[in-house]
Amino acid sequence: MKDIFRKKDMSGANGEFHRRLGLLDVTFIGIGAIIGAGIFVITGQAAATMAGPAIVLSFLMGAVMIGITALIYAELSSAYPVAGSAYSFTFASLGELFAWLVGWNLLLEYGVATAAVATGWSGYLRRFLEESLGVSIPQALSGAYDPTAGTYIDISAFGIILVIFWLLGMGIKESARVNTVIVIIKFAVLITFIVFGLPHVDFDNIANFLPFGWEGVWHAAALILFAYLGFDAISTVAEETKEPQKNIPWGLILSLAVSVVFFILVSFTLTAIVPYTELNVPDALAFALYKVNEPFAANIIALGAVITITTVMLVMGLGFTRILFAMARDGLLPKTLSTIHPKYNTPYKATLIGGALLSFMAGLLPLKTLAELVNIGTLFAYLMVAVAIIVLRRENKIAPAFKVPAFKILLPLNFVLIIFMMAGLSFETWVRFIVWVVIGMAIYWFYGSKHSELNR
Ligand code: ALA
Repeated sequence: MKDIFRKKDMSGANGEFHRRLGLLDVTFIGIGAIIGAGIFVITGQAAATMAGPAIVLSFLMGAVMIGITALIYAELSSAYPVAGSAYSFTFASLGELFAWLVGWNLLLEYGVATAAVATGWSGYLRRFLEESLGVSIPQALSGAYDPTAGTYIDISAFGIILVIFWLLGMGIKESARVNTVIVIIKFAVLITFIVFGLPHVDFDNIANFLPFGWEGVWHAAALILFAYLGFDAISTVAEETKEPQKNIPWGLILSLAVSVVFFILVSFTLTAIVPYTELNVPDALAFALYKVNEPFAANIIALGAVITITTVMLVMGLGFTRILFAMARDGLLPKTLSTIHPKYNTPYKATLIGGALLSFMAGLLPLKTLAELVNIGTLFAYLMVAVAIIVLRRENKIAPAFKVPAFKILLPLNFVLIIFMMAGLSFETWVRFIVWVVIGMAIYWFYGSKHSELNR
């Protein structure tokens, strides 16, 4: 009988990378992953079709859930500063099978999200090329595979993924440096939107505040949760961080706090300057500013979104390679994926596979469905992490530098909110999720359980 619940002892785990990242680096890695296609693309679509101006409330709802989850991550990663985040926490507490399932869903989170975000990126790129340079990409190459719409591949989404993974293969510090510069541009872009948008606020636009009722707010919250994802990417670089017991938890909390403030301001401004009914477009923020006759700022937004969304791909892509690395190191996936490049010090085989696979996904698949799929996989991982912290605390296995405050209130609340969010996603998403989990179970049964390092 296989021991599928065997646990991995992580005391003394130290990692195989150089520790080069400080608090500012990791906070920026968090923001780099968080602020992206979610706020730039999905917010407009969710406001138009699900929540109306009350999208602000959906963001608040998401912030509470994600906030508690981030505190849990902060405690766990201050106790276990190793690559792999939720995957590693689960391995130490719930054992190999659940760890595999979490890892499998994190691959979905980071991988599919990288691809999904690339398609959001390409929407703003097309708008920028058309408005500013008068260049248009041929129809056939301008969207996900959909012959009825005359689109076969989103060539720019495909190409950008290749560039991203090339950067990642060259080494984390270089990538983190690029990331820091781009995050600064990201702030500038969102501030531009708010500053140029606010003078055009028309309270008539938000007079009908709850056009789809509370149910709409709930469904929108389950979708725009995508905008918050990525904060956990910070804990995937724990092994590359200086003083991780301190820098990882604070990086998590800081990056999330900054993002929440921007999301609330931007989503309010967006729905207050144009009627929500018009926001079902691929580039809502730029569109809204063109609409209120601020073409200069709108162009900045379009170009800024292109630059900015790049960091999301960079960090999510980084997370993907590191999860793949951690799972391969444990023998649950082929060992060769955990080989570190002697010169660049990166898991280059995991990076190559990621680039090859995800570029095609990005080229061929559309954004919205993918975002829901990413959410459900991620929510599952969050659920497991919430169980993990209970087990680890009970077994007295952690002596974290950071502790979740008001644990007895926040933890049950977190369970309720996660399940509430999962229930807000569509039936199709649930079906896809179950198929993904079944495939994962099969791989574990026929490969992972046999090759696991814990067999030795
Ligand atoms: N939070 C990331 C985004 O909004 C995934 O693009």
